[in-house]
Formats: sequence, C-alpha cells, structure tokens
Amino acid sequence: MDSTGRKIIIWNDDYSVGIDKVDDEHKSLINKINALYEAVNQNLTDVDILPLLDDLMDFAVYHFTEEEQLMRDAGYKDFDSHKAIHDTIVDKLKAFHRRYTVSENQRRTGFELLIFLKGWLYKHIKFADKAYAPAVTGKKQ
Ligand SMILES: [Fe+2]
Ligand SMILES: [Fe+2]
Repeated sequence: MDSTGRKIIIWNDDYSVGIDKVDDEHKSLINKINALYEAVNQNLTDVDILPLLDDLMDFAVYHFTEEEQLMRDAGYKDFDSHKAIHDTIVDKLKAFHRRYTVSENQRRTGFELLIFLKGWLYKHIKFADKAYAPAVTGKKQ
C-alpha cells in the first residue's frame, strides 16, 4: 500500500493521561485508526480494510482489558461506569464491522466508522481516561 501520510488524528500531549503504558496504547490506537483512514481514503477493498479493522478491534479490546485491570487494582470508584463505556464501544465496533461487511457503499460506511472512532477516542481519552488516571498514579482525585 502506498502511504499518503494522511491522518485523521494526530497525537498531542493534551491526550496524555500521565501513565506511560496507557499513553503508548493510545498512540497505537491512533496509529491503527490512521492506517484505516488511509486505506478508506485510497478506496481499498474490504480484503485490505477488514484486517485493519480486525486489528484495531483486537487492540481496543486488549487496551480496555488493561485499563480495567489498572482501575480494579487502584479501587477506582467509577470502575463500573467506565467499564460500561468500554463495553458499549466494543458493541458499536462489532455492529460497524457487521455493517461494513454487508454494506453496498463501503466507502461511506468506512468514513462513518472513522468519524465514530475519532469522536470516541477524543472524548473517551480526554474525559473518562483522564478521570481514572489520578487514582492509578496515586495523585489526588
Ligand atoms: Fe477507557
Ligand atoms: Fe483508553
């Protein structure tokens, strides 16, 4: 695949939650979303796009599991509501995956998925993830 270098999300320090491992995973998520963006932009077919989507979904599940373990270990008070958001995101990704495979306009579905991913990542990191981080790092909540 030729790289155009186009990105839908660019990491900046505003995304940092102050936990290196979590920041690194968020950077990986951003890279995977950008790879999907580039593939949709280049009009690649589902043969190329579905593996990228599968990879992104697998990594999101891994990342959520890691965060849930950190929150559990820290006794984070809003664990249940945070986990519920993770579960909803995974359900939405699965629904998009199903929709994408049967879609007659995959390019459009792909862009809708990307808009969802961008909005989710931004909101979830900036608000929900930043809210649990102090409990994990031991800083005041
Ligand atoms: Fe989270
Ligand atoms: Fe996260």
